[in-house]
Amino acid sequence: MDRNLALEFVRVTEAAALAAARQMGRGDEKIADQAAVDAMRKAFDVVQVSGKIVIGEGERDEAPMLYIGEEVGAGGVPVDIALDPLEGTTITAKGGYNATTVIAVAEKGCFLHAPDTYMDKLAVGPAAKGAVDISDPVPVTLKRLARALDKYLEDITVCILDRPRHDELIKQVREVGCRIKLIGDGDVSGALATCMPESPVDILLGIGGAPEGVLSAAALKCMGGDFQGQLKFRNDEERERAKKMGITNPDKVFTMEELAKGDSVLFCATGVTDGEMLKGVHFTGKGAITESIVMRAKSHTIRWIKSHHHFDYKPSYA
Ligand code: FBP
Repeated sequence: MDRNLALEFVRVTEAAALAAARQMGRGDEKIADQAAVDAMRKAFDVVQVSGKIVIGEGERDEAPMLYIGEEVGAGGVPVDIALDPLEGTTITAKGGYNATTVIAVAEKGCFLHAPDTYMDKLAVGPAAKGAVDISDPVPVTLKRLARALDKYLEDITVCILDRPRHDELIKQVREVGCRIKLIGDGDVSGALATCMPESPVDILLGIGGAPEGVLSAAALKCMGGDFQGQLKFRNDEERERAKKMGITNPDKVFTMEELAKGDSVLFCATGVTDGEMLKGVHFTGKGAITESIVMRAKSHTIRWIKSHHHFDYKPSYA
């Protein structure tokens, strides 16, 4: 895949972020998400790829745009696309922290076609790659992690989604003596934080969305970290849907390589609201500043792109 395509995809996440950011604080998740979806869909029209969405807004009958199986792009190299037009709809609706727009792209067949169910996740940065296993008891994982990072156990920071389903996990982490960073939403950002030297987060644990798991795996692949995930079904219908999508063993633990295969994977995200990794959209006089991250598995190069948008010259953003 042409490496310059990565920059084309940043335009797409930027467009979605600019649109979603306008809906910040309105208290309406749906409006914020729709704005991101519409802008992202439109921005794809000029990207020189024949893209097929494999992780998207849902099945065709439940999402009119950016649905699984939809073809996007102006034509060109065939690619599979995993996306979340707005990762953090509630965050945006409340004007909170860490909402992003996210796309991962790879050669055909490289992403797991994850059903829209939950996934138990473990994410760590490069220094802990190979040292931890999601199948181990939590105390074992945390002790191995501390050893790999050469840190005191009590200095390890675990990022966990703040949900009642994590009460037991939180209790176990506290018993071991580690620090916890509870986040309200946005576990893709939580996973990425494990690879950012300036972030205190050492590991992400717990259950979040499976599609977000594939996106996190794509990102950590590019950053040299590690990601492991196991699907968690809420009911038999979800289990059936997974089977139809080709998941033969519902209890399987997926490695990062199984979720995002090969070195053609690229990942980009743009901040919608301010976060640790990315600043959100800051509107200026007749324009806006966006911050994005773009990276490729092949080179492991991570680029931050700060863009100054001028609405007079780009009326489609105005
Ligand atoms: P949305 O963008 O759909 O709001 O998802 C945000 C998110 O927090 C994800 O980051 C996470 O994987 C998932 O929701 C967790 O699901 P739930 O809110 O049902 O616990």
